[in-house]
Amino acid sequence: MPDSVAEAGTPNELLDPDSLPLDNACFFGDTITRAEALAHLDHARELFTGMVTRLEPVFQMWESNPEGAFDPVDFDAIGFYPSYNANQFYAQFWQAAQNSSTNYDRRRGAYMLDRFFCDDLKPVGAALPTTHVEGKHASDPACAACHFKLDPMAGFFRHNGYFGIDFDDATLQQNGNQIIFDDFASLDFTEYESAWRAPTGAGRDFDVGYIRSTRDESLNSYGSTIGDLDALLKAAPEVERCFVQRAFEYFNGADQAVDPGFLDDVAADLHKTKSGGDRLERALQRILTGDTFRVPDRNSTVCYDVAPGDSGAHRPPCEVASILRANCATCHSGANAQAGLDLTTWEKASDGGFGFRQIVGGQAIARADTFARMHDRVTTSDLTRQMPQLKDMPLHQREALALWLQKQIDSAR
Ligand code: HEC
Ligand code: HEC
Repeated sequence: MPDSVAEAGTPNELLDPDSLPLDNACFFGDTITRAEALAHLDHARELFTGMVTRLEPVFQMWESNPEGAFDPVDFDAIGFYPSYNANQFYAQFWQAAQNSSTNYDRRRGAYMLDRFFCDDLKPVGAALPTTHVEGKHASDPACAACHFKLDPMAGFFRHNGYFGIDFDDATLQQNGNQIIFDDFASLDFTEYESAWRAPTGAGRDFDVGYIRSTRDESLNSYGSTIGDLDALLKAAPEVERCFVQRAFEYFNGADQAVDPGFLDDVAADLHKTKSGGDRLERALQRILTGDTFRVPDRNSTVCYDVAPGDSGAHRPPCEVASILRANCATCHSGANAQAGLDLTTWEKASDGGFGFRQIVGGQAIARADTFARMHDRVTTSDLTRQMPQLKDMPLHQREALALWLQKQIDSAR
């Protein structure tokens, strides 16, 4: 008579209760009766088939629409992994945004920035701190242009290993302090986590969070856990602004020109009514009752909705007018404009095209030249030359302005 399951015969024999020689089988280290062992196997089979059945709709969804891999799954409805409902990150997220021992959760961070902050990591506007941080990833300016915000966002996920499994204290202890990644490589957790440790005297444990400025830390939202990230997504004005932008694109088309000042204004309105239950509806209402949505035979290059109180005459193109007004006009307008550059006047130049007025030593600067100088000053990470001078500028505005300037440079050639 065999005395353990391993010696109990072939799998087929296991299915036939009469041929199953399981009396006094050793099951999970305990000696149990044949009836108990059968009950165990039955229960295990039930769990397994139940799990596969409940996941079937998810597999089908992924197969029919791989793009949908980022959409949330209602795990309550399929009765699986209820613990994921505590936050906004779902199995498909972990499936699609995998990590590795070299990736350091950056794909997860990039996804968060793109999806919730409308930031697809255009490498402009990294205002680098003047002190060089040793031993950090990608401290080279060309790399920091993305990584200064990407790496701190990735840090929210530092406890989540393969499939998003939480490597909490208990799991780490069981696992010899090793975290395991989606590629099944592993790393000492203490060493791994040190990539996000804040320098001593920073007043926080980790350089984890949403980074708005490298020159003024008080503007940043620091945190540590995924719960902190949830709270950040609910509170950050950038996320509200992103919602408004996505809604505008959804109703009017992604190629439709819009004055960013209009979107800012709708987002500000949404922010003000924070406690109102209908605040999202109000934002949608403003977009649906806007001029863009209502005009027949719309031209995608025309801005129909503009920021309130905009004058119109000699106004720079709508894609950038409100950005220039908010960030540049105080120093670059009127008779004493700095560097002879007036960023509130848009006029016909001698070559027939439109541009900003810039007059240095009585000489008009060619408009293409002015565009190039502006592009340089907006994208440089050299703080002594970066515009606006000694001042922060919202990153999405800096990126939009830089992209627009690049287009002007290309077409003025
Ligand atoms: C345009 C923005 C951008 C710039 C500039 C950039 N990176 Fe990245 N980097 C990313 C993103 C996004 C990821 C995550 C990619 C993924 O896994 O999906 C990444 C991932 C990485 C990774 C992890 C790769 C892996 O999967 O193991 C390293 C290392 C890295 N970057 C280093 C650098 C260095 C060094 C530079 C400068 C030479 C640099 N990056 C410049 C956006 C950028
Ligand atoms: C707080 C005042 C201030 C603000 C705001 C400001 N600038 Fe400037 N800007 C200056 C001063 C002063 C100079 C001349 C010193 C220098 O060249 O750095 C200058 C120079 C420039 C130049 C160089 C012109 C040349 O001929 O080389 C450009 C281009 C420029 N600014 C663009 C901008 C843009 C675009 C913005 C908004 C995103 C902006 N500035 C916001 C003060 C400002």
